[in-house]
Amino acid sequence: MCVAILDFGSQYSHLIVRRIRGLGYNAFLLPPSTTYSQLRKLSVKAVILSGGPQDAYIQGSLRVDHKILDSELPLLGICYGHQLLTIQSDGLVERGEKAEYGIADVKINNKNSLFRGIKTDSIQVWMSHSDKVQSPPKTAKVLASSATDMYTALEFTPTRFSVQFHPEVSHTEFGLNILSNFMELTKCEKNWNPSQIYTDIHNSLLGKEGNILMAVSGGVDSTVAAALINEIYPDNLYCVYVDTGLMRDGETEYVKSVFNKLHINHLFIVEAQDLFLSRLKGVKDPEQKRKIIGQTFIEIFVDESKKLEKQFGNFSYLGQGTIYPDRVESSFDKDGNSKVIKSHHNVGGLPDYLPFDLIEPLKELYKDEVREIGKRLKLDEEFLSRQPFPGPGLAVRILGTIDEEKLNIVRKADKILHEELKRNNLIEKAWQFYAALLPIKTVGVKGDARSYENSIVIRIIDSIDGMTADIIDLPKKEAVRISSRIVNEIDGVNRVFYDITQKPPATIELE
Ligand code: XMP
Repeated sequence: MCVAILDFGSQYSHLIVRRIRGLGYNAFLLPPSTTYSQLRKLSVKAVILSGGPQDAYIQGSLRVDHKILDSELPLLGICYGHQLLTIQSDGLVERGEKAEYGIADVKINNKNSLFRGIKTDSIQVWMSHSDKVQSPPKTAKVLASSATDMYTALEFTPTRFSVQFHPEVSHTEFGLNILSNFMELTKCEKNWNPSQIYTDIHNSLLGKEGNILMAVSGGVDSTVAAALINEIYPDNLYCVYVDTGLMRDGETEYVKSVFNKLHINHLFIVEAQDLFLSRLKGVKDPEQKRKIIGQTFIEIFVDESKKLEKQFGNFSYLGQGTIYPDRVESSFDKDGNSKVIKSHHNVGGLPDYLPFDLIEPLKELYKDEVREIGKRLKLDEEFLSRQPFPGPGLAVRILGTIDEEKLNIVRKADKILHEELKRNNLIEKAWQFYAALLPIKTVGVKGDARSYENSIVIRIIDSIDGMTADIIDLPKKEAVRISSRIVNEIDGVNRVFYDITQKPPATIELE
């Protein structure tokens, strides 16, 4: 490992990892309590302290291991990390008179080291803080300041810096230059690239003996993982796809054709539509829906594995398309203690009694990195640019209770949206899009008659990896065409909303 990002709970911690990897360096998130000796064992060569929601001046707030500070390791503190480097030396951090959120102008006083190569004297940066450094450690040099903050960037030693703003956020001008300047001052090598990643994964898969059972969803992650495993163990890989009945139009047929092209020898389709629908009958609560789906999925999967074992012999491994954000919890509650873990993904929480070892070839990668690996495996570009689809499927896109009629409405609306975005080439701008059914009826007029019918909401977002998202510009003409088609072609729908909320604060899915 090269760079450790100690995660103090910022919503941008994953983004720091993304940026550093984007610069070609190997980077991972680690908990804030990580010690110097743990970093040594992992051969970490540089550390970045992330932002976080706590107040650094309050006793008991999160701290970085002092041995890390006493070491020679290059360090970059960002936001809370900036305040920690100050307060854990002999500096002072206090609540500022005014909080600073959003864009701020910062004057650069020193264009060596961190701001090297930046030609302008002043840059716009992304701020998100209410506390600030009131007095920096005596030996620190001030590199930059803003109108409300004299100590916006500090240099502690030739390889140790901190900034109050967020260089990882795209709104910060020259943010990547700043991160790159820091990285160039470390001893890290640039070896994080698709070719090296592919070789590492391939090597890590060698030497397995026995059959591999793999749950596949038709999504990019599990398909790329299956393709990787299939390269080495084509005769031992047994893929199981469960049709939950909560899929988009034509999904199961599509999955069959993709796996066919990949020359995956054993694909088993389990038809479980009725079981899922009966268990979900009358259930409104989003978390309960997710739990029922997760549990039912596991039951079916275990049953199926038993059947397959009788036919093909024991399974030694369970393959999964888990990716990095599925595993790494990255946010803290307000007290900075417990971590919030997303309740979604993959096989939805495996029971302890499964007698398999896990094979998760993509577990260190983000979605866009998975797509790069997919390209190396010669998977279709169109398939790889496929948008993600949540494990619980259309169940989280029908707010309230689920039934066959509602599923049909959502499927039709989703299909129309897909066709329209493809027709007007907006599909390339959309990282993900979908139609969902709202649990409200509204009044309309169809023909000359009053109608009182269902509402559809459409969401079209751009993103890099689903952790933050922006809405795309939907031209009025296209928006109207989509809504007209949905209202005209689907019985029982008379209104279409467009979701204009970014993530954060909203999530991508509605439930
Ligand atoms: P949220 O709604 O958390 O979604 O902003 C982020 C990304 O994850 C997808 N998603 C899921 N994927 N199982 C999955 O495999 C799930 O339960 C699940 N829930 C959300 C979502 O579509 C988006 O791409």
